[in-house]
Amino acid sequence: MEGKDFSYVMRVSREGYLLHDYFGKKIAPVTYEEDERGWWCVQTQGADGACLDELRQEYPCYGHTDLRRPALSCGPAGLVLKYAGHKIFAGKPKLSGLPSALGDGAETLAVTLRDDDAKVSVDLNYTVYDDYGVLCRSAVITNEGDEKVTLDRAYSASLELPRCDLSEIHLHGSWGRERHIAENSLVPGVIDISNARGGSGHQINPFVIVKDPAATEDQGFCLGIMPVYSGNHSTEIEVDQRGRTRINSGIAPFMFEKTLGPRESFTAPECLLAAADGLGELSRSFHDFIRDRVCRGKFAHAPRPILINNWEATYMDFDEDKLLSIAKLASELGIELFVLDDGWFGKRDNDRCSLGDWVVNLKKLPSGIGGLADKINKMGLKFGLWFEPEMVSSDSDLYRAHPDWAIHSEIRSPGLGRSQLVLDLTRREVQDHVINAVNSVLDSANIEYVKWDMNRYITDMPRKGFNYEYTLGYYRVMGAIVESHPNVLFEGCSAGGGRFDAGVLCYMPQIWTSDDTDPMERVYIQYGTSMAYPPSTMGSHVTDGPNQYTHRPVSMKTRGDVALSGNFGYELDITKLPESDLEAIKAQTALCRELRETVEYGDFYRLSDPFKNNVGGWMSVSKDKAKAYVTFTKMLFKPNSWYAHIRLKGLDPAARYTDKFTRKTYMGDMLMNRGILLNFPHGDFVTNTMWLVRK
Ligand code: DGJ
Repeated sequence: MEGKDFSYVMRVSREGYLLHDYFGKKIAPVTYEEDERGWWCVQTQGADGACLDELRQEYPCYGHTDLRRPALSCGPAGLVLKYAGHKIFAGKPKLSGLPSALGDGAETLAVTLRDDDAKVSVDLNYTVYDDYGVLCRSAVITNEGDEKVTLDRAYSASLELPRCDLSEIHLHGSWGRERHIAENSLVPGVIDISNARGGSGHQINPFVIVKDPAATEDQGFCLGIMPVYSGNHSTEIEVDQRGRTRINSGIAPFMFEKTLGPRESFTAPECLLAAADGLGELSRSFHDFIRDRVCRGKFAHAPRPILINNWEATYMDFDEDKLLSIAKLASELGIELFVLDDGWFGKRDNDRCSLGDWVVNLKKLPSGIGGLADKINKMGLKFGLWFEPEMVSSDSDLYRAHPDWAIHSEIRSPGLGRSQLVLDLTRREVQDHVINAVNSVLDSANIEYVKWDMNRYITDMPRKGFNYEYTLGYYRVMGAIVESHPNVLFEGCSAGGGRFDAGVLCYMPQIWTSDDTDPMERVYIQYGTSMAYPPSTMGSHVTDGPNQYTHRPVSMKTRGDVALSGNFGYELDITKLPESDLEAIKAQTALCRELRETVEYGDFYRLSDPFKNNVGGWMSVSKDKAKAYVTFTKMLFKPNSWYAHIRLKGLDPAARYTDKFTRKTYMGDMLMNRGILLNFPHGDFVTNTMWLVRK
């Protein structure tokens, strides 16, 4: 198969096994049958003479003659899948209950594998696009027999590379420190890059790169894999005794189980794969694909509104006058959307109550949500609202009416997270309740934006397989609400960036990247996030200086410069700022309007790795190469430090660009070959930015 710039090659062995041959840069469509069955003396062989342990398979199973970690397993006797047919069709199949990439302009190869003895079949779908460097894979497993079959792992995709002199990169972190970059050399054995906290998690993001250890931003073999999934996920990498590397990716097998009755099927989530020459190209393949085929709806390609959110300005301590005073000033400063965060409902003055009671607190907001939205609209701002629909507080009317709707095991009281419980979204009546509760608020007022939060991990899951059912429930709820409100911009959030994944992005085109808005921390977080996700998905706000969490004092200029590299906004009490900061905000919002299309929808190039250097740097170049926004951030001032001379990327070599900040003029080839000497102001936490416009 061929997508834009890549080939994916598989073949059927003489015994009928579907073997993986190649995934990488485009090659001529000729297959050769290399014999990877070398000499061996202690291997196992099946009745057909094949030792599956030796073969690189498209969708391997454990138990017969392959004893490596499988993509699929259903009990000790294992499965032996053989090729049973294939078809090719335009578009791509919808996955039952799961989000997946749009199929416009796509072509799909569906290969059926079957184990006639176990009476299990697997349909493997491979979708390619002429215009994108991403391949979509999914797997549907069907019980064709009369007995029950219990799956204990069912990954979405498996890849077997013929080499192991490789390293892997994954994005790890915690609350306030999301998606930092870890790189490790692969060695013989198994590593499992996975998460079991209920959502996709702050700790391990569902995205892994396997690469040549010497690969850089600009060259070298790189392969990325991303499950389109928001629950417990895993990418397992095994280097085997023959020096091959098997990668399985999808739902985490830990605590997973799915029993299929006769003729029932199980659909594993979609997985996105890309292969590229260099990390930069790999990221840009994912960015383009996520923007165009994962994100959807009216806002997928729209300039994102500059927002102000009251959370760090007031927390839950506000009244209508306070909100209106912020909104009024915001409208004068060029801000476009006012977002009312947590604390507007029930009797919520602290985080120990009221989740689930989505009824406005009239003591705080006497005109209700509708009245407040109208007043804010009259100021020329859109109005947005925060929800945390998956949760319930034990001190709430909802919990008092339905205590059994909170996730719990039969043997102990459930663990609390931020004093709250999680609703059991595996239950249809709970899903319906949440859909109706959120929809009735959305339909009661002119709400044009929703921040959908999820502030805790899921504990006390009562059975194996529960997390998968929960995730399907979340998707059904999300889908129903988003589809019935196509004019509302939804932003995902999970205690900052704890659920940042392609599954969420199928419903909400942007996600709050982290509660940590200190620009020095954000340089790491946004740089790491950019490995997989485009700037148009990253919420990025200016907050107080010194920062409320890190206490680091950083200038308004640096806070603005770093935040301008994502979906821009503010989260501080602007009514308390000095005139000089208000002037700076006016200039920032005007600049954002000028450059946001380039940042949100241009090509992203990483220029200096903050994990390795004292300077973090990146740039966004508009698709027509007419504009580029360049940001370098210096962490600490070091006396007489090395000169930082950096070459820009992605520009038109023959074009003349003017930096609108300095009015200096440069040729594109000069900026990309000779480069520029970075010129930072004196001190720590400073930036050097360029806004290049082609003449
Ligand atoms: C966590 C989010 O990350 C914050 O931005 C804020 O919305 C709070 N929750 C509100 O409880």
